[in-house]
Amino acid sequence: MKPPHILLIVGGGIAAYKACELIRLIRKAGMTVRCVLTDGGAQFITPMTLAALSENEVFTTLWDLKNETEMGHIQLSREADLIVVCPATADLLAKMAAGISDSLATTVLLATDTPVLAVPAMNVRMWQHAATQRNVAQLRGDGVTVVDPDDGAMACGEYGPGRLPEPVAIMGEIEATLALPSRMHPGQTLPLSGKRVLITAGPTHEPIDPVRFIANRSSGRQGFAIAEAAAAMGADVQLIAGPVHLSTPPGVKRTDVETAREMAAAVDAALPADIAIMVAAVADWRTADAADQKIKKTGGALPVLHLAENPDILAGLARDARRPALLVGFAAETENVIDHARAKLARKGCDWIVANDVSGDVMGGTENAVHIVTAQGVESWSNLPKDQVARRLMEKIADAVR
Ligand code: C5P
Repeated sequence: MKPPHILLIVGGGIAAYKACELIRLIRKAGMTVRCVLTDGGAQFITPMTLAALSENEVFTTLWDLKNETEMGHIQLSREADLIVVCPATADLLAKMAAGISDSLATTVLLATDTPVLAVPAMNVRMWQHAATQRNVAQLRGDGVTVVDPDDGAMACGEYGPGRLPEPVAIMGEIEATLALPSRMHPGQTLPLSGKRVLITAGPTHEPIDPVRFIANRSSGRQGFAIAEAAAAMGADVQLIAGPVHLSTPPGVKRTDVETAREMAAAVDAALPADIAIMVAAVADWRTADAADQKIKKTGGALPVLHLAENPDILAGLARDARRPALLVGFAAETENVIDHARAKLARKGCDWIVANDVSGDVMGGTENAVHIVTAQGVESWSNLPKDQVARRLMEKIADAVR
């Protein structure tokens, strides 16, 4: 089979230099790449650099007649399996969202039905500006995959979201996007095609009164990454999410809930499933009787919260007549991680426990070191970004249900 071909559009920003490393990684992964460099991009790197790294001619202008006869802009996009815009500047995103075609890059992007992956990089205020956020929402609605920028120190001296993700992470996004079922070539089947996968993610919020609640630090990132990886492997994914600030991964069906009891009901409604992965950090307790009105400070006795136990969704699923063939739980522990995970495997009646030590900043963070505890033994993985943990876990699951 022909290796995937990438059309890389390099926009104007200091992060353009990272596109050079990305070309190396794309080629190392066995793919071919051709570059379009915008006028802005050419202020930061040269066509020569991109041509040398891609070993392909670099295109910069729409008005190059030779290329419009031999290699037109339609052909440029048609030969590609994926168009990657990296770095995607605020200006490029705005033009893409508005359908403006005033350069080779924007004309290619308007004239294509090839999947597009945009990797933004810009100053934090430009990224957070309502106009950029509106454009990103528009593009996502139009089916463009827009990667969230990283947080951190920026070349302009400011700090916050707007940094281009590291090239290795962008490469992961490219591979994930290419593997999406909707982007498949006819006749190709994916490892989880036809499998229904049920995933819970995020925390739950248990109300104390209309304005206060009991919660935990779970961000939902690990569960969402697993949902994304499962969908990329062809599964029909139902994601039941507690309150999180994350966008729905491509191809995933999502139900939002707030409390543990709502999550239990949503899981029940989503059955049957072939595989269930319970990643959510479900609150163990809720207030026995949440107040209807805001509890006031009286200056006298402190309020006392009476707690009630929440349903254990995972344990309930293990006992259910519709129990999925593979039932995976997570265990967030702060000590004796593996011992506690073994005990949990037996107590909950699931098939695997993915255990992690959350004494550091795993909860809410971007990396995770996990141990997969099964009846057969323990497999420990080194610290990895959560999306890589997700992909490895889904590959292991696909092997187990094959
Ligand atoms: O008992 P513990 O909360 O440590 O168990 C963690 C595992 O059980 C996770 O997979 C979590 O999603 C699941 N769980 C659940 N319902 C609860 C508590 C935990 O499904 N009420």
